[in-house]
Amino acid sequence: MDRIRITGGQRLNGVIPISGAKNAALPLMIASLLTDETLTLTNVPRLSDVSALSRILSNHGVDRSVAGKRIGQSAETGQTVALTARQIVDTCAPYDLVSTMRASFWVIAPILARMGEAKVSLPGGCAIGTRPVDLLLMALERLGATITIEGGYALARAPKGLKGAEIVFPKVTVGGTHTALMAAVLADGTTVIENAAREPEVVDLAACLDKMGAKIEGAGTSRIIIQGVSRLGGAHHAVLPDRIETGTYAMAVAMTGGDVLLEGARADLLQAGLDVLSQAGVDISETNEGIRVRRNGAALEPVDVTTDPFPGFPTDLQAQLMALMTMAKGTSRIRETIFENRFMHVQELARLGAKIRLDGDAAYVDGVEKLTGAPVMATDLRASVSLVIGGLVAEGETMINRVYHLDRGFEALETKLGRCGAQIERISG
Ligand code: UD1
Repeated sequence: MDRIRITGGQRLNGVIPISGAKNAALPLMIASLLTDETLTLTNVPRLSDVSALSRILSNHGVDRSVAGKRIGQSAETGQTVALTARQIVDTCAPYDLVSTMRASFWVIAPILARMGEAKVSLPGGCAIGTRPVDLLLMALERLGATITIEGGYALARAPKGLKGAEIVFPKVTVGGTHTALMAAVLADGTTVIENAAREPEVVDLAACLDKMGAKIEGAGTSRIIIQGVSRLGGAHHAVLPDRIETGTYAMAVAMTGGDVLLEGARADLLQAGLDVLSQAGVDISETNEGIRVRRNGAALEPVDVTTDPFPGFPTDLQAQLMALMTMAKGTSRIRETIFENRFMHVQELARLGAKIRLDGDAAYVDGVEKLTGAPVMATDLRASVSLVIGGLVAEGETMINRVYHLDRGFEALETKLGRCGAQIERISG
């Protein structure tokens, strides 16, 4: 298994190109199952989650072609991927493929909508608390599907097709909203989704579905209305920039000090996160090319932050913010309200010398003078990158094990940070 070695203490200066969003690319790729025509996606990040989903889609019969590299393109430039599901040859998504990535469960919606049946293994994914799929299945049932659970699989059937209906989510769920959208676009009649997720990735999926011929109103608000159509066609769509990658590098620069342009980043996708950084004393400015992040010597102020669905502070940046606040002048409070058990990075940050107390859903972070390098291990995607942020300022060497978590969600991480001056290298294992 690969490891990443960081020698802390370097400021970051330069330009970091922001990749296409993993959490948008995955549902967009899944949407290719809704049509027999070609869906061409640009700005698709090179991530192991994207490759894993490609394998799942190919098992269902999706042909995939990736445009070759053009002169002047670097390995971090997003790929152009053409996906064609001329025929769905298999309506079953098996355990060995689905268990590694939770989002792959979402294939249940387009396969059911197009084929009248789907059998999908119940998901695995990050070890951040129980992450049930009851609300996703509820949405499909509301649209007229019959659901049974057998041998670790969810079986969904709607032999006469899905019917538009009202779907009211009792809590905001991104995956539930994606699932409801992809099922409702081919349902007969009108569907209204209440308490829909407002995340930018939902808006991006709806925009792509619209280009494919769907009729969707209200994406980005908590009420989405879908007029079902009988078929969808092909489209071209660019994946939106990754707001979590943006926030992560912004926090890395805040941690080390320096001056970095996050190229292609969009502030409107991450206002809550950027506001927190401004409160902490980091200089954030929007430019034509992206977001510029600067900190020059000034102390970091502690913050009081609660994670919330969009437009609130994202749970996917909670671990990174906690790493940053380990070096603030005072005590920060960080509350996690989306996932229980999403504090596994606390123990590992403590190995670098962080002082963090947990109390229910809150973490109290007492800023320390310095962190010290240590071997650490990560249990999930965002937790592992919080250890990178810690390692960038820790005295001496930090060795991060289980790098495969980082490869799931961060394209060319060590190259991007290394070019800005970080001493970071991958050690192949
Ligand atoms: C997506 C993101 C993930 C992010 C999360 C919250 C992708 C690929 N992943 O995950 O990075 O952290 O949104 O912003 O886009 N829940 C239920 N029943 C369900 C579904 C969800 O109880 O059927 C609960 C979950 O346990 C959690 C909350 O609802 O407590 C929100 O989960 P959800 O928004 O569905 O997260 P994901 O779509 O899995």
